[in-house]
Amino acid sequence: MSSHIQIEPMKGNLQFGANVTNVDVENLTDADFEALREALFTHQVLVLKQQGHISPKAQYALTQRYDPTATGSYGHGKTLDAKKSILHPDLKTIPHQPQVQVIGNGFVSSYEGLENFTLKHPHHKTFHETVIPEEDDLDFTRFYRWHIDAALYGLAPPVATTLLAVQVPGGRRQTIRYDDGTGDELEVPLGTTAFVNGEAMYDALSEEDKAFARGTKVEYAAHPYIWMSGAKSRPTGLGLISQNKELQPEELPPVDETMIQTLPMCWKNPVTGKLALQIHPSAVRRLHLEDGSVVDDLERVRDIVYRLQRPGIAPQRVYAHDWEAGDLVIFHNRGVLHSVVGAFAEDEVRVFRQCNIAGSQLPVGPEAVGIAA
Ligand SMILES: [Fe+2]
Repeated sequence: MSSHIQIEPMKGNLQFGANVTNVDVENLTDADFEALREALFTHQVLVLKQQGHISPKAQYALTQRYDPTATGSYGHGKTLDAKKSILHPDLKTIPHQPQVQVIGNGFVSSYEGLENFTLKHPHHKTFHETVIPEEDDLDFTRFYRWHIDAALYGLAPPVATTLLAVQVPGGRRQTIRYDDGTGDELEVPLGTTAFVNGEAMYDALSEEDKAFARGTKVEYAAHPYIWMSGAKSRPTGLGLISQNKELQPEELPPVDETMIQTLPMCWKNPVTGKLALQIHPSAVRRLHLEDGSVVDDLERVRDIVYRLQRPGIAPQRVYAHDWEAGDLVIFHNRGVLHSVVGAFAEDEVRVFRQCNIAGSQLPVGPEAVGIAA
């Protein structure tokens, strides 16, 4: 039986993202899921409206279907438990569905077995080297941290992440300042999640840079979210400033060398075969070049990555989702970068559910599609 799901590419010049209608997430047939699978890998970000009723279990089942042989542990595993991890304060785990996390802002008395808890939307002032002045803070904001949802140590990056908006404070808009000397700004809805397409990021490179990106592998730091906990971000949220503030090896938990990840700089889309420039800019440690040489100097590594990625987050390339309660967004975590955005007041309560699952396999690079360098 064929599927009745409808996929409508988003309008405008972004060239990624699609709206999905006529879908029943709680009762997906194989044909329905096949339509959703192809849609995700084609459009990178899918928006399904009015899904507030779906259970954490159904959210998990949908997410898991994008990587059916994945064993089902949350994409960050238990690494979030480390008190020094920068991810630790941002998530609450649903007790009966531990792959699904509650994120948001403000006090919540009861939700899915969690009682009397306070969520905190991350604010750039806790992570960026420079900040928006206090008097501008309600109107102006930053990209908090561009990233891929991935442990980048041991566990493989999740294929898909699902985000469900349960409760959304309404109304305001803010302007993102890039504050990197370009004058770039972008007006967005309060608390948007910003996405950029890694495939467009790759396509926009010069031929020389494409060849470099295809031939280079990125080594990530061991225990990256603990390692980076003392460091500060660039004002664009696209990677860190090098001030030797990363934790020293003796300050980290013991390192298992076999868990350190060195991944291709470009990841292959399993349906379209397209390449995405897919680098977690904050967690990079070394670059392994095609000629066998290694770029070890951290500042240089970050500068190289920043130069390649920065054009990809230009205002006209960003999809800033305008959240309404009930929105379910599915994104191809191996083909986009995304960032939290915005500053909420304490009484602006927002509740989201996020799910991703550690991948069953590492991402595949360009050599597997036979692209000549
Ligand atoms: Fe994320």
